[in-house]
Amino acid sequence: MAKITASVYTSHIPAVGAAIDLGKTEEPYWQPVFKGYEFSKQWMKDNVPDVVILVYNDHATAFSLDMIPTFAIGMSDSFQPADEGWGPRPVPVVQGHPELAAHIAQSVIQQDFDLTIVNKMDVDHGLTVPLSLMFGQPEAWPCKVIPFAVNVVQYPVPSGQRCFNLGQAIRRAVESFDEDVNVQVWGTGGMSHQLQGPRAGLINREFDNAFLDKLIADPASAAAIPHIDYVREAGSEGIELVMWMVARGAMADVAGGQPPTVAHRFYHVPASNTAVGHLILENS
Ligand code: DHB
Ligand code: FE
Repeated sequence: MAKITASVYTSHIPAVGAAIDLGKTEEPYWQPVFKGYEFSKQWMKDNVPDVVILVYNDHATAFSLDMIPTFAIGMSDSFQPADEGWGPRPVPVVQGHPELAAHIAQSVIQQDFDLTIVNKMDVDHGLTVPLSLMFGQPEAWPCKVIPFAVNVVQYPVPSGQRCFNLGQAIRRAVESFDEDVNVQVWGTGGMSHQLQGPRAGLINREFDNAFLDKLIADPASAAAIPHIDYVREAGSEGIELVMWMVARGAMADVAGGQPPTVAHRFYHVPASNTAVGHLILENS
């Protein structure tokens, strides 16, 4: 049967993608950011999954105000990297896993979550920057990826609690897939940042670190954070953190298993306009 072995959490800053693509990772501004991912790249080599369920948000690349799915699952066998404003990133095409994606859609919808099925879409920095941070610059991504988009851009957005519950439903779906597939769930975006209005540039280290503590040790209390608190404390784009709750909900302890092991924890300010947060949690 398929199994969720670990979850990964990371910011998805587009300028980080540009720094990688333009060979700037050793520059003094960027060096401390990428240093925080050195462990992760080795860990990824040692723990390559078959499939990553990559929970991310689209930034008006695949979706627009014409159509706003709250939760959308990518069903294709491939997804093209899209224009980021710096031009399309020179990264490999993302290979999907249509069979597992279809199984997850069937199972999760029957568990009363309304997913939008997407048979064709491009993927932006929300998805490709986390891949680059974890895998570096390979010729081809070393595993399949199921893009799982959450609307955190246009209100109303889903609550952290609903995202946490969704992660639990995804776990049940994966564990009922009748093939030996090693699966990781990644939650991306965050941490505190605000890109607009009078509070543009807002960073809240205290909130971010308390969130990381709670996410690790008491995810149910992290799930109870109301969306207005994310916006007030972590800024308008800090709401991206609800996507981390999906990945956390998919871990074994939430279903009565052992608490996860923290393989890696990293926090750094600044990178572009955000605080960078990163965690790797392993199921025992
Ligand atoms: C930045 C961060 C984001 O999450 C994003 O989607 C776009 C820009 C930034 O830090 O500039
Ligand atoms: Fe973003």
